[in-house]
Amino acid sequence: MQAPLAVKEDIRQKKLDSYWDNELNLVFNDIAERYDSANDFFSFGLWSVMRRSFVGRVKLPEGAEVLDVCAGTNAVGIDLLAKNPSFKITAIDRSEGMQRTGAIRAKEKGFKIKSVISDVHQLPFADETFDGATLEAATRHLEVKRVFEEIYRVLKPGGFFCHHDLVKPKNPVVAFFYYQYLKVMIPITTFTFFRTKGLMGYRKSALKLRSYFIEAINFFYTSDELTEILKEAGFREIEAKSTAGGTAAVHIAKK
Ligand SMILES: C[S@@+](CC[C@H](N)C(=O)[O-])C[C@H]1O[C@@H](n2cnc3c(N)ncnc32)[C@H](O)[C@@H]1O
Repeated sequence: MQAPLAVKEDIRQKKLDSYWDNELNLVFNDIAERYDSANDFFSFGLWSVMRRSFVGRVKLPEGAEVLDVCAGTNAVGIDLLAKNPSFKITAIDRSEGMQRTGAIRAKEKGFKIKSVISDVHQLPFADETFDGATLEAATRHLEVKRVFEEIYRVLKPGGFFCHHDLVKPKNPVVAFFYYQYLKVMIPITTFTFFRTKGLMGYRKSALKLRSYFIEAINFFYTSDELTEILKEAGFREIEAKSTAGGTAAVHIAKK
C-alpha cells in the first residue's frame, strides 16, 4: 500500500536532508559553468526541448511579474523572455555560482533578470507579489509542501504556478529501465564534465552527486502525488501532463 504523503515526505527528509544542508550547494556552485552543457549531454538534448515545451505552456498576461524559483543558470527565465520580452522576471536561488553563470547567459541574450540569493523554503517576498511562478528541475532537492505553500503565498489570487521536473515513474517497467539509464549516464556525465583539479583529478563534490541524484528521484513523488501536494498547498484547477514516457511531468496550477 502507498505510504501517505506526509510519511513519504518525512522519509525523504530523513534520507536526503544532510545532502540538502551540506553537499548540494557546494556541488551546484562547483558545476555552475558546465551545468547546462552537462544537462544537454545527460539527456541527449531532450531536456532543452522539454523546457521549451514547458515554457510554451506558461500562459501569463503581458508585463507579468514572474518568480523563477530555484532558477539556477536562468534557463527558464531566458526561455520565458524569448517567448515574451514584456515579462518581468525575478530569479531566486541559493547558489551564487549558478546565478553568476545565469546573469552572464541572460546578458548575452540581451535580457535582464533580477537575482535574489536565498533559500526558497522561506521566500523573501510579501504575500501576493507575483502573477506567476515557475519551478523546474529542483523540487527533488526541496521540502516540497513547504515550498509549494510559500509559492502559493507570494502569488496573487488567480496567479499561476508552472512546475516541471523529473518524477518517480508510476510504471515499474519504465522505472526499471529509467534507473538503469541513470546508473550509466550519471557517472559518465560526472566524469566527462566535472573534471577539475580536485580529488583524483575530479571534483570531490561532484562525485557525491552520483548516488544522491538517483536517490533523490527514487524517494521523489509520482506526477499524481505532486498533484495531491499542490491541492494540499491550496492550488486549484491543476493540469498535469506526463512527459518523456512518464519520467517527467508538467503541472500548471492556479491560486
Ligand atoms: C538542477 S538545478 C535547476 C535549475 C533551473 N531551474 C533549470 O531548470 O535549469 C537546481 C537548482 O536548485 C537550487 N536549489 C536547490 N536547493 C535550493 C534551496 N533550498 N534554496 C534555493 N535554491 C536551491 C540549486 O542551487 C540549483 O541552482
